Order: sequence, then C-alpha cells, then structure tokens
Amino acid sequence: MLRSHLSISLWLSLLSLSLTQAVVLTSAPNASTKYDFIIVGGGASGAVVANRLSENPRFRVLLLEAGQSREDELEFQIPFMGPHLAPNTPQDWNYTTVPQKALNGRTLPYPLGHVLGGTTAINYMIYTRGSSDDFDRYAKVSGDDGWAWRNMLPYFKKSELWGPPADGRNVTGQYDPTVHGHNGMNSVSLAGYPKGIDWRIVQATTELSGRYSYREDMNGGDPRGTTTKGPSRSSSATSYLASEYRNRQNLDILLGAHVSRVIKTGQENRVPVFRGVEFRTSTDGPLQQLRASKEVILSASTIGSAHILLNSGIGNATELAALGVTPLVDLPDVGENFVDHPFGGIRYNSTGNDTFDDVNRVPELREQVMEEWKNNGTGPFTNTIIGHIMFMRTQNQTVLANDPASGPKTPHIEILIANGVPLGQTPPAGHFTSTGLVVLQPTSRGSVKLQSNNPFDAPLIDPAFLTTEEDKAVMRDAIRSSIAFFQAPVWKDYIVGPFVVNSTSSDAALDAYSANSVNSVFHPVGTASMSPPRANRGVVDPDLRVKKVVGLRVVDPSVLPFIPSAHTQAAAYAIAERASDLIKAAHR
Ligand SMILES: Cc1cc2nc3c(=O)[nH]c(=O)nc-3n(C[C@H](O)[C@H](O)[C@H](O)COP(=O)(O)OP(=O)(O)OC[C@H]3O[C@@H](n4cnc5c(N)ncnc54)[C@H](O)[C@@H]3O)c2cc1C
Ligand SMILES: *[C@@H]1O[C@H](CO)[C@@H](O)[C@H](O)[C@H]1NC(C)=O
Ligand SMILES: *[C@@H]1O[C@H](CO)[C@@H](O)[C@H](O)[C@H]1NC(C)=O
Ligand SMILES: *[C@@H]1O[C@H](CO)[C@@H](O)[C@H](O)[C@H]1NC(C)=O
Ligand SMILES: *[C@@H]1O[C@H](CO)[C@@H](O)[C@H](O)[C@H]1NC(C)=O
Ligand SMILES: *[C@@H]1O[C@H](CO)[C@@H](O)[C@H](O)[C@H]1NC(C)=O
Ligand SMILES: *[C@@H]1O[C@H](CO)[C@@H](O)[C@H](O)[C@H]1NC(C)=O
Ligand SMILES: *[C@@H]1O[C@H](CO)[C@@H](O)[C@H](O)[C@H]1NC(C)=O
Ligand SMILES: *[C@@H]1O[C@H](CO)[C@@H](O)[C@H](O)[C@H]1NC(C)=O
Ligand SMILES: *[C@@H]1O[C@H](CO)[C@@H](O)[C@H](O)[C@H]1NC(C)=O
Repeated sequence: MLRSHLSISLWLSLLSLSLTQAVVLTSAPNASTKYDFIIVGGGASGAVVANRLSENPRFRVLLLEAGQSREDELEFQIPFMGPHLAPNTPQDWNYTTVPQKALNGRTLPYPLGHVLGGTTAINYMIYTRGSSDDFDRYAKVSGDDGWAWRNMLPYFKKSELWGPPADGRNVTGQYDPTVHGHNGMNSVSLAGYPKGIDWRIVQATTELSGRYSYREDMNGGDPRGTTTKGPSRSSSATSYLASEYRNRQNLDILLGAHVSRVIKTGQENRVPVFRGVEFRTSTDGPLQQLRASKEVILSASTIGSAHILLNSGIGNATELAALGVTPLVDLPDVGENFVDHPFGGIRYNSTGNDTFDDVNRVPELREQVMEEWKNNGTGPFTNTIIGHIMFMRTQNQTVLANDPASGPKTPHIEILIANGVPLGQTPPAGHFTSTGLVVLQPTSRGSVKLQSNNPFDAPLIDPAFLTTEEDKAVMRDAIRSSIAFFQAPVWKDYIVGPFVVNSTSSDAALDAYSANSVNSVFHPVGTASMSPPRANRGVVDPDLRVKKVVGLRVVDPSVLPFIPSAHTQAAAYAIAERASDLIKAAHR
C-alpha cells in the first residue's frame, strides 16, 4: 500500500500555497465554435499533441481534460512528494484492478492522474526510454519503419530538455550528452542530492562486475535521469502546456471535462465518421457535444482511451451488445492485449543513518528539509524516491530459449534501489534500503473492459500479473539478483536481512512471497495496439488512426503492442511527438 493522503494534508496545512489563475476556458465552448482538432486528455501525450498542433496558427485546437490545473501547488512541485499524490486523492481516478488470480485474489490500487499533466503530474519522474530493440520490434510488428529506434531517437531528443541537477555539481562523466536532447520541452536532469548510499552502489557494481557492471548512461538505446527542472517536478503541464503555450489564441483548454464517448457524425464512402465528442463538466451536469472539422484525438491513457472507445460502441460487438452498449464498429481488440509491469520488492534493514526514513517520520527534520527546498532549491526534496536502477537479462535458460524480450539488448529485469522506504508507511524506527523488482518483458496479457453501459462507471482493469510461468520465473530471478547484489563486500556491516525470503528460499517460497506482495509500477500499454493497415487484428494503423472509422486517432502508449523495457513516460512523449508530425502531414 502506498502512504495515505492524510499525512500529506498535515504537512501541507503548514504551508502557504500560491495559486495562480490558469489561462483556460471558464465554460464549455458553444457547439457553434469551430475546432479543427479536439484532443481528449491533457496528460503526457495529449499535452504534446495540443502544443504541436497549435504551433500552426491555422489550426484551432481544443483540449478536454477531466482534472484541474494544480501545478502551482507545492506538493505537485516537490519531487520527493511524488508518492503522496496517489492513490485515492483528488487528483486520482481512484481505480483498482479486478482480483488478481495469481496474486492470491488481491485487488491492487491503480492510480491514474486526474489533473492537468495527467499521470506526469503525480508520477515518480523516472526517465528511461527502453531499448533500441523495443522500438525496432514496434517497427516490425506495425510494418512501419517510422517506429524504429533510429527514427524515434530524434523524437525522444525533441521532447527532452536536459538540464543541470539542483545542486549544480559538475556532471561530466555522469551521463552521455550525445544521447540526450538539449533544446526540447520537458526537463530531464540527474538527481539533485546524490548522497546517502550512492557511493556504495557504485562500489558494489565494481566488486561484483559481470551482470552488475556500471554504465554511465542508460538512455542510449542500449539501456539516467528524472523529469525534474532544477529542484522541481517537470510535468507535461509545466512543459508542453507552460503559459507561453497555454496562451496561444488558437488553443482552448477546458478543464473538468469528463469525456464519455466519441460520437458518430456521418459516413464517408460507407465508413463511419467519428468527429464528435460527448462530455460533461460536473457530475450532475448535462451531457454536451462538440465536433471537430478534422480529427478527434484520444490521449486519455491506456485505460482512458480504451474506456472511451468501448463506451462509444467501438470494440468487441458481442461483448458490447451483452452489456447494452450499441455496437457501432466491431473492433474486438479494443481493451485486449493489456500489459503492465509487475512490481515486486525486497526491503533490507540498514545500519546506516543517512537514509531518507528520518525525513519521512521526524516532523522537525521534514520542516528543515522543506525550508531548504523552498529557500535554496537543494536537499533531499529535490530527489525522487529512487536513486539508482539496474537493468539485467534473466539467467533462466528456459526463458531465454523462447525469449520474450524484444531482442538481445533488452533487459528482462529492473532493480530500483531506494535509500529508505519509498512507498507506504515508514516504520517508527530503523533505517532501510529497498529494492523494487520489475519483470520488464512479461508474457502475461490482461484486458480493460466495461462493467456496465454507464460511461461514467469505472472500467474493469485486469493486468493479469504473473499469470505465466515465465513471468514468475523472471520475478524469482529478480528477487535472487537483488539479494546477490547486497552480498557484495561493501554492504557487509551495512545491510541486514532480507528476512521474509533469502538466498536459500525455494522457488515455491519466492512465488508465495510475490503472490502476497507484488503490485503494479503503473506502466499500462497495449489496449489500442497498432498493426499494419490491412491486418485484421489490432486497433489502430501505424499512423495511429482507429481502424474501420474516419476522423479518429489514438495517441498514447495504448498503441504499443508490446511493453517497452522501461518506465513509460519518455515513450509517451516521443510517441506523441511523432504522431503530431503525422497529423500535421495529413492536413497540410
Ligand atoms: C504512481 C505512478 C508513478 C509513475 N512513475 C513513473 C515514472 O517514474 N517514470 C515513468 O516513465 N512513468 C511513470 N509512470 C507512468 C507514466 O506517468 C505514464 O506512462 C504516462 O503519464 C502515460 O501518459 P498518457 O498520456 O498515456 O496518460 P496520462 O499521463 O495518464 O494522461 C491521461 C490524461 O487523460 C485524462 N483523461 C482520461 N480519461 C478521460 C476522460 N474520459 N475525459 C477527459 N479526460 C480524461 C486524465 O485525467 C489524464 O490527465 C507512473 C505512473 C503512476 C500511476
Ligand atoms: C456562446 O453563445 C452565447 C449566446 O449565444 C454568447 O453570449 C457567448 O459569448 C458564446 N460563448 C462562446 C465561448 O462563444
Ligand atoms: C478520488 O478520491 C478522492 C478521495 O476520496 C476524491 O477527492 C476524488 O474526487 C476522487 N476522484 C475522482 C475522479 O472521483
Ligand atoms: C544551497 O545551494 C548550494 C548549491 O546551489 C549549496 O552549495 C549550498 O550548500 C546550499 N545551502 C544549504 C543551506 O543547503
Ligand atoms: C567538469 O569536469 C570535467 C572533467 O572532470 C572538466 O573537464 C570540466 O572542465 C568541468 N567543467 C566545469 C564547468 O568545471
Ligand atoms: C468477442 O467476445 C466474445 C465473448 O467474450 C468472445 O467469445 C469472442 O472470441 C470475441 N471476439 C473476438 C474476435 O475476439
Ligand atoms: C550511525 O550513527 C551511530 C551513532 O551516531 C554511529 O555509531 C554509527 O557508526 C553510524 N552508522 C553508520 C553506518 O554511519
Ligand atoms: C528490521 O527493522 C524492523 C523495523 O524497524 C524491526 O522490527 C526488526 O527487528 C529489524 N530486524 C533486525 C534484524 O534488525
Ligand atoms: C526457469 O523458467 C521456467 C519457465 O519458463 C520454469 O519452469 C523454471 O522453474 C525456471 N527456473 C527457475 C530456477 O526459476
Ligand atoms: C533463510 O530463511 C530460512 C527460512 O526462514 C531460514 O531457516 C534460514 O536460516 C535463512 N538462511 C539465511 C542464510 O539467512
């Protein structure tokens, strides 16, 4: 469980918040207002599309976002507060998964940003792109070389604005400048408070070498950074939707607009046209409709975009009809092929004193750290919760024999290291070192489905975590790799434990541990997968146009038929950058 919202409210009551007025519409536009493009969802992807399309002064663009603008509030600015922003907060959709078969029937919280900036306003800011093989696989399965790594790297760079870390140190040798973007939009930097256990981690990589060997930069396609600007979070609300862009005359933003459906507005050559949107601006408010003259673009996330398509009658006609939703377009893969990263973890007791646990539990220290952040822009609050990441291939030969990874450069396992207890309650005493364990190339596939014909009901979210033998095997390998890492000499006298499982635990014991403890790291993809234009499976073509209809695209990570070996925000930004170019080219 993540930390409850309660403690943060207590913190924040101590602070004075400066709220500035966002430059957005104050009421829904009249149906007579002519928009060329209507974009649904102002998260990572939608903010990019809104920014890039409104670069053309001839295009009139409307962005509909269900949440509010919150980037002027301190808790949305301080990187260290990421984990306090969800779940079950005013800026969360408050979803949970269906009971997970392989996880003892547990339901998991499934946060999704309900705020301008979407999930980039509440996430943990880790910036990783994935391997070159991941993108080369997208090119292969979609039949479009435009998605290949060499063609996507320019879009990663276009979206990235590399900057100095908060402490202003000389970072030469800590990253590779050639693989980063230095003139882009969304800020990326190194940790601003490289203290604590960092030196021990680097030391352990030399002591162990081999699969633990140290790499300066993992973003060159052969897998460092966080989406921070100096001391603060950089979200799509502060970058792509910064006031200079929000103020564009041809871009309107309507906040608090919950979109229920896309609407059929006609036929072209017997193909249904979907250039309408239906939404409401309050729970008891009326449904309103608007039309785009060129395109409607769904950027409502892997959950939200699939949900809207299904609500609109675009999906498995049999399943829709059974729920009382009139099927308009039989596109059975909508909501299918859902894949996410299962997230395990091991916590170790530590004899060290400079973990961030004291910041989490000692109010006086927290205030001091807050003062440093406010007055100086330095200190522990400039960091996200994770300091280091290890990516590695699995050692399980059976898994490798039928390798689920996109290619030989692609890691199966990610180990995130935190200098304290990053998520959930900090125990009243003690110091800790935590690892997060991710199965990066899972073979399990789940789904996003409707539970009723009420478009405002939550969708049924089933990531189907660890439902395959391969995924369980890779998770066991990840646990054992974490334990082996902390057996390096540098940790002797520093790390105590682990306790619940250890290096001699049986496969069955590790599986039972995972079933009890695995959660999501929240990287959903796949529910509107792209496939070649004439393929009968898939939801969108390689230009991200919804199949069997006109006037409608999906632009967000739902279009990825496989999950990248990475946290997904960087991919979301890059996909939306390329998609924006495709849309501009289609309406020259
Ligand atoms: C707790 C958490 C931590 C994470 N940490 C990281 C990390 O450290 N690094 C990383 O790379 N990734 C991380 N992620 C994932 C990352 O943030 C997402 O991959 C990324 O934001 C996805 O972009 P998107 O455009 O698809 O959707 P989002 O950014 O979620 O944006 C979707 C937007 O659409 C809006 N919307 C949805 N439905 C509707 C509707 N019906 N009507 C109107 N508006 C709607 C939402 O309110 C939201 O603003 C994290 C995710 C979570 C939940
Ligand atoms: C909508 O229409 C009303 C009355 O027709 C008008 O007063 C108002 O200015 C219009 N609003 C917009 C955003 O065009
Ligand atoms: C999520 O729950 C919080 C806390 O109960 C609430 O304030 C918020 O409005 C909920 N979000 C949505 C989208 O309903
Ligand atoms: C303030 O920040 C500078 C670097 O920008 C740092 O050298 C200094 O130690 C910081 N002061 C405090 C009180 O942390
Ligand atoms: C940063 O360090 C590198 C190598 O140690 C050095 O060459 C460079 O001049 C330094 N830059 C600054 C601005 O001090
Ligand atoms: C549509 O859903 C039904 C009922 O779940 C299922 O039997 C059928 O296989 C699905 N159709 C396709 C093409 O997947
Ligand atoms: C932690 O603090 C105690 C008491 O100040 C000290 O004895 C101990 O050496 C410290 N531990 C480490 C690992 O620095
Ligand atoms: C590890 O830390 C927990 C929480 O403080 C404590 O209950 C436990 O006794 C510690 N174990 C050891 C061996 O130090
Ligand atoms: C290796 O993977 C296979 C499944 O792919 C599994 O049956 C086997 O138990 C795994 N070996 C270990 C040691 O986990
Ligand atoms: C590992 O755990 C088992 C069972 O809890 C315990 O009996 C054993 O002593 C532990 N081994 C090590 C090396 O800690």
